Formats: sequence, C-alpha cells, structure tokens
Amino acid sequence: MDAGALSPVQQTALATAYARALDSRSPRSILGDTLADEVVAGIDFDFAGLGVTPSVVCLVALRARMLDDMIRRFVTEQPDAVVVDLGAGLSTGVFRVDPPPSVDWFSVDLPEMTALRDGVLPHRYRSHSLAASVAETDWLRVMPADRPAIVVADGLFPFLPDAVVAATAGRITEHFRLGMIAFNDYGTVSRLNRLAKLIMARKPMFRTMYGQWEFRGFRDAHHPETWGARMRLVEESSAMRQPEVALFPPLLRIGSRLGARVPAVASKARVLCYRFDPPDGTR
Ligand SMILES: C[S@@+](CC[C@H](N)C(=O)[O-])C[C@H]1O[C@@H](n2cnc3c(N)ncnc32)[C@H](O)[C@@H]1O
Repeated sequence: MDAGALSPVQQTALATAYARALDSRSPRSILGDTLADEVVAGIDFDFAGLGVTPSVVCLVALRARMLDDMIRRFVTEQPDAVVVDLGAGLSTGVFRVDPPPSVDWFSVDLPEMTALRDGVLPHRYRSHSLAASVAETDWLRVMPADRPAIVVADGLFPFLPDAVVAATAGRITEHFRLGMIAFNDYGTVSRLNRLAKLIMARKPMFRTMYGQWEFRGFRDAHHPETWGARMRLVEESSAMRQPEVALFPPLLRIGSRLGARVPAVASKARVLCYRFDPPDGTR
C-alpha cells in the first residue's frame, strides 16, 4: 500500500505517527514509542516535509500516554475486556499498553489506511484490524457485545461531522453492555480554525489537519452525555496539567503551565472519558 494513495483525511495519521516517532527519538521522550519510529521508517513518504512542530510532537505523545493509561486501568480491572481504537491509523497502542492475552483489541480505520497499517505493523495475538468507516452502521457487529469494552478515539472526531460523532457514540453504547468511551478533545473550535487557517498556508501538516476539520466541538464536557443515553462523564483532564509537561521544551513548558490555569485554554488539549453501565443496573 502506497502512503501517497491515502486520502487527505487518512494522511493525517502519517503526521500523528511521525509525531510519536519524533518524540521517541528525544532524550526527554514522553511516550517512548520506539515502534512508531520503526513504523514510519518502513513507509516511503516525506515525513520531514510535513512540518510537524514541537508542540504537536509533545501534545500528540502526551494525549496518547493519557489514553494508554486509561486503557491500562480498564484492562487491569476487566481482563476479559475488548479494546476498540477508532480511527487507529498507524497507532502502536496495542504494543505500548501490552494488554493481557485475554483482551481482544480492534483497530478500526478506513480501508486504505487499514491496508497500510497491516503492511507495516507487526502481527500481534488477538489484535484485529477492521476496515470500515465509523459512519457506517454495521461495523460493531463483529465485536463481542457481552464483554466490557473501552472504546478510544485519538485524533478521529475532528474529522467527522457532529452528527456522525454523536451517532457513533450512540451505537457504541447500544452495542456494548458496559464500558467506557475516551477521546481527545479541543473544546469549541471555531476560533482555533480561524487561527489555523492563518498558519496552514505555510505548514503542510496544518493544511492536512485543518483542511479536513469538520467537528465544531463543545465547551461543556457533559455535552457528550446527550450522545448515548447511558454515557456519564467520569474524567476530564487537560494535557497541560499533566506532570509530563516537565518534559516539554522550555517555552512550550511555560506556555502550557500558564495555559493550564485558564480553563478555556486548558480545554483545548483535554482528554475526556465517559462510562456506560449496563442498562438493567447489574454489573
Ligand atoms: C489524526 S489521524 C489519528 C490516527 C491515530 N488515532 C493516531 O493517533 O495516530 C485520524 C484517523 O482517523 C481516520 N478516519 C477518518 N475518518 C474516519 C472514518 N469515518 N472511519 C474510520 N476512521 C476514520 C483516518 O483515516 C486517520 O487514520
């Protein structure tokens, strides 16, 4: 599979994979994802030409680390869990988290990206690729509904219309008996987009990312509770408030620590987690 044949929205995964690869090369690595570096080395693409910035490297690595920690906690409590990574791209999350062998891990992405992923990532026991758009209605059918599920979306929702995000979350809570949905979020994005348009003409990565941006976002972290009848907010964490900010380059570290004090700024780099319990109240 040639990376050049990916659609623009699929190419966004090249930027995030490269960000984690660059992070792994740093002596002050946040995520330590050395496999990401091996994966990008196996793809014939001008990654350096993307113009991935140090702030993107840090934030992409840190939000992956935050989501990994949530998955680790979940599979430790629920060793028969199902992990679903929506818009998985080239993520090596299953290798970073290294869940017990009783866990099934599904990586869902569009067909061309899934073909690239399967070509460059090593095979792993009970790790499954699913070529599908989450906008379709039947992709969940192959997933065992009676097992606890943690569904994560790292970097996917910005590229979906609001109604598709809401419908996707609704389908997840209808399908699985109990579980969690966790994703990274940018708060409301209209101003962010305007700013991005100013800089995207110079940076190919921003052109790729913001040129595809569909999701309008939301301010109140309780808003997604309206997407799935059983969704309840259990965690809202800003990357800017994590101890790993100490590993950021100096200017970014100072900026993040200042931003962390302003809720509207801190919410631009948040990870949200929602729980859904069984409909009948049993566990
Ligand atoms: C910014 S990338 C993030 C990839 C990966 N989660 C990561 O952190 O590196 C967004 C991903 O969402 C995928 N995607 C976009 N629309 C999708 C859809 N409708 N269904 C499934 N995946 C989709 C893209 O192909 C791409 O891999």
